[in-house]
Amino acid sequence: MRRVKVTRSSDYNDVRHERSIEMAEEKAKRFIDSSSNVDSGAYSANYGAHRVGISMQESVDYYSKWAQDGKYEQDLSLERYNGPIIAANYLADHYPDNRSSTKILDVAAGTGYVGEQLHTRGFKSVDALEPASGMLEQARKKNVYTDLYCEFLNSKRLPIKDDTYDCCVISGGMGEGHIPCDGLHELIRITKPGGLVCIVMREEYLSYVGEYKDRLEPLMQELEDAGKWEQLSRDVVPKYSFDNNGVVYKFKIC
Ligand SMILES: C[S@@+](CC[C@H](N)C(=O)[O-])C[C@H]1O[C@@H](n2cnc3c(N)ncnc32)[C@H](O)[C@@H]1O
Repeated sequence: MRRVKVTRSSDYNDVRHERSIEMAEEKAKRFIDSSSNVDSGAYSANYGAHRVGISMQESVDYYSKWAQDGKYEQDLSLERYNGPIIAANYLADHYPDNRSSTKILDVAAGTGYVGEQLHTRGFKSVDALEPASGMLEQARKKNVYTDLYCEFLNSKRLPIKDDTYDCCVISGGMGEGHIPCDGLHELIRITKPGGLVCIVMREEYLSYVGEYKDRLEPLMQELEDAGKWEQLSRDVVPKYSFDNNGVVYKFKIC
């Protein structure tokens, strides 16, 4: 009789997860090897902020250093990283009117790319939330934000009242050691009923970032089932960053 090797499902899932990480690392290596020095340097710098096992504090320290002397914006120029333009276009489509009075929180605002893009589309009431002080200092200089919060989005309560914003937007704030799934609860709390939460992130993170794999989308669904929000759309978009697909979620707060 043929012997069948029995693999416990948790082991099987661990092996699949390890394999996804290896594939992502191999993909990064292929990209770095096949690109110009400039592109491969930029890709490596970005990979450094998302390396497997990085903690939230390590990632934020990394960003603060990366922001110095404009290095982040040189590496993640808007030709290589389209997230801020994608996010701003989604918000512009969603709000054809009254943009100047639409109160927005740019979560994980970084150096202020999203704020700048929103500003040029007529959004004038935008706040920033960003835990890396070095990044937030760059964002402040852009003069496109009203209030700036140097805070993490996680399970902790933010110093922001319930139902404050018409819209919360995240571009690039999801990743290894970045915003955890629990952050969704705070987004819902601070966004007004009827308001919008828009999340733009790299699609492949759903399959190999341990925090999100089999957790982020199920939590999004749970929150919908609990009547907290309603998913308006989930779009996969090309060329989010370095030719990687992005995924854009829009949720309406109930
Ligand atoms: C790739 S940058 C994106 C910045 C900006 N949104 C943009 O599109 O250029 C990711 C940002 O997420 C921030 N971040 C990491 N963990 C965070 C958290 N838990 N809460 C809020 N922001 C976080 C980092 O400090 C960093 O500035």
